[in-house]
Amino acid sequence: MISASELRRKYLAFFASKGHTVISGAPLIPEHDPTVLFTTAGMHPLVPYLLGEKHPAGTHLVDAQKCVRTDDIEEVGDTTHHTFFEMLGNWSLGDYFKQDAIAWSWEFLTSQDWLGLDPSRLAVSVFAGDRDAPRDDEAVQVWREVSHKQLEGRIDYLPKAKNWWGPAGQTGPCGPDTEMFYWVGAAAAPKTIAPGDLATSSDWVEIWNDVFMQYNKTAAGVFEKLQKPNVDTGMGLERTVAVLNGLNDNYLTDLFQPIIRKIEELSEKKYGAGEETTRAMRIIADHMRAAAFILAEGLEPSNTERGYVLRRLIRRTVRYGKQLGMQEKFCSGVAQSVIAAYRETYPELEKQQLFILSQLDVEQERFEKTLQQGIARVTKYADDLRKNPADLDAFVFDMYQSYGFPLELTREELVRHSIQFVVEDLKEAFARKYKAHQDLSRTASAGVFKGGLQDHSEISTRYHTATHLLQAALRQVLGTHVFQKGSNITAERMRFDFPHPDQITPEQVRQIEGLVNQKIQEALPVSMEEMTVGEAKKQGALGVFEHTYGERVKVYSLGAFSKEICGGPHVANTSEVGKFTIQKVESIGQGVKRIRAVVQ
Ligand code: ALA
Repeated sequence: MISASELRRKYLAFFASKGHTVISGAPLIPEHDPTVLFTTAGMHPLVPYLLGEKHPAGTHLVDAQKCVRTDDIEEVGDTTHHTFFEMLGNWSLGDYFKQDAIAWSWEFLTSQDWLGLDPSRLAVSVFAGDRDAPRDDEAVQVWREVSHKQLEGRIDYLPKAKNWWGPAGQTGPCGPDTEMFYWVGAAAAPKTIAPGDLATSSDWVEIWNDVFMQYNKTAAGVFEKLQKPNVDTGMGLERTVAVLNGLNDNYLTDLFQPIIRKIEELSEKKYGAGEETTRAMRIIADHMRAAAFILAEGLEPSNTERGYVLRRLIRRTVRYGKQLGMQEKFCSGVAQSVIAAYRETYPELEKQQLFILSQLDVEQERFEKTLQQGIARVTKYADDLRKNPADLDAFVFDMYQSYGFPLELTREELVRHSIQFVVEDLKEAFARKYKAHQDLSRTASAGVFKGGLQDHSEISTRYHTATHLLQAALRQVLGTHVFQKGSNITAERMRFDFPHPDQITPEQVRQIEGLVNQKIQEALPVSMEEMTVGEAKKQGALGVFEHTYGERVKVYSLGAFSKEICGGPHVANTSEVGKFTIQKVESIGQGVKRIRAVVQ
């Protein structure tokens, strides 16, 4: 039995022994990228570096990255889909390529010093080639060599749809990948496979992906060869822990078992007792894990963007919890087990425990009220709807829009009043109306990178520098207890959350705004220096100190006014920020204030 922590630890240690710097994973909420909702892959925070920017930690990197993907949220409930997951990854930034990447993958998987997997249960896929790029014979050659032909007969050539990764957006680095599969079938692993088997057989489970980013896809759709190709790899922690332990259900791993136990306790039901019960328990475990991690970053449930994804995770949990007969404030109860399970690896959960639990309680209560109102509304209109079925789709849509009732839930309530409708019939009409209000979580995956990370648009860069100016000004005017608790930038405005227990007077607002504009007028040079976290701290730089002490980071200075640990990018001179105006100051609870501001 290998535990998740052991796999995480081994992965990092192995690549450290091969000259990789272990870097901290990035937050789930991308720090300065307004175009995405959440970090969706290990490579996501590294895009600027994959495009050639120099990384302060060097050219060989390894980490474990928290990710959230919500495009498959409806599929959560089976054995493998998750909204939150961890991805282990190692990177070569313009340095080693196929030879080392594949040799190290093989060594890590099969060496008795590391995972010690049986080579006869491994198979790999490589890119089959098309008019954009040739068949990846080079990768095959390396696999043959490093495996001493132990993979003979189990190398599958697959097309772009399977064995190509990226670009993350419309354009950018991308390339063929090679994927590693582990045999989980009941019978012995077959010595040879038929072409396409790895794409279709559920007995072969993909555990790792090595992407060879050797092309840059241009706006014209041309694949140009990159001067300096990169390696980007990804191993899903949950799935790999499951298959390595011979489990066909990720929820049976040590990552989920304490959470499932807690749900069993709260629901007085047994995992595995029935299909519906098991599915509901998986959804609750998955969603409360994701919600706890998102809340730990200071986000609150709301009706837009990230806050809406969070709200949806909590509300789905409430519904499935009720299905299991769970009572009272069970969301926070389940989240407690998440916090306990991840205490060591992700201390931010425990640090934010009060916030996480109280937000869950408040949201659960709010939703329960909404549910009651919605149910009362169905009762009130049931007779009318029975007489005028043509009004049904408008009613169902309004239930969604005004009461947060998903289609299915409204249907269930209507059925209680003997009003039947086929969800499929309504779906199209609903989808049309729904489009304008569409769940923005889709942008978190499909649209994620569109124009995104690679295009740190000028306006968001200006806002980003303004954030540093504002933080320094707040500390000067209100006191050094102020620090950035959360920040959010769109093309239209910036938002900045910080702890400050007292009221902020109009006079103070004027002073803060005046100070920021003064520093803009002073045209301070923006400079960047790389140093260790320890050094940055010594120099009084503000910023996230959740990195390990010796880790190298970038420190941005705005003249002598501000110094912060930060990944950038920034304008070159504060004069480029433009006129800074505070539009609104509000209290968002628990001694936290929020400033909304614009630059023009
Ligand atoms: N970026 C690659 C993936 O997500 C490694 O699979």
